Amino acid sequence: MVEPAYLAAVRESYDTVAEEYVRIVPDRFAGDALGRGMLAAFAELVRANGERPVADLGCGPGHVTAHLAALGVPVFGVDLAPKMVEIARRRYPTLRFEVGSMTGLDLPDGHLGGIVAWWSIFHLPREALPAVFAEFHRTLTPGGSLLVGFHVGDEDLHPEHAYGHPVSYRAYLSPPDVISDLLHQAGLVVAARLIQEPVPGQKRPQACLLAGKPGRS
Ligand SMILES: C[S@@+](CC[C@H](N)C(=O)[O-])C[C@H]1O[C@@H](n2cnc3c(N)ncnc32)[C@H](O)[C@@H]1O
Repeated sequence: MVEPAYLAAVRESYDTVAEEYVRIVPDRFAGDALGRGMLAAFAELVRANGERPVADLGCGPGHVTAHLAALGVPVFGVDLAPKMVEIARRRYPTLRFEVGSMTGLDLPDGHLGGIVAWWSIFHLPREALPAVFAEFHRTLTPGGSLLVGFHVGDEDLHPEHAYGHPVSYRAYLSPPDVISDLLHQAGLVVAARLIQEPVPGQKRPQACLLAGKPGRS
């Protein structure tokens, strides 16, 4: 199948910014107490539903993957950008990281106990979201959990630079209700939402939705 152009732009952009990204973003995550609270709840839910693997989709340099592993979650990371995967492997040599796309996961139906998409769905054009959420539903086991983080808004952003480098990706902001409705249409039930107001230096609120696939494995 021919790869959509937006995936090539995201891959090339994150390969370009990866070394600078890892110098900035993991420290920000270390200060995100509320986000880590949602990850703790997610970890508790997936552990209670069995020992199935958990995928961190769009894992970047792997700090969220490592955080979940430290919480006792059998997690692996997947990222579109080979440079991000190389850095994640270098930083966390005992964890598993693979190059891949959340638009088509090489995983059997019902394989995963949980999926985290932590600030990685916002590069998907809106028309791509229903198929990606259907892929999340397909690969989750009944009772499995999903945690998605994203920037709140309704604009499409076309930044020319990020992390000090030229980039060609686009970023599509979404209101939480829109993402919640799309998850519902994919058969996933939203259980909780966290909206963080912008801190100094941020322009927009941040949302984090915790959802589940009905049933129990
Ligand atoms: C803003 S970064 C977030 C990285 C990490 N989750 C974090 O919190 O720092 C977005 C990441 O998602 C990855 N990504 C974007 N679209 C993707 C896709 N379709 N499949 C897999 N990874 C993707 C990018 O390569 C990039 O590493």
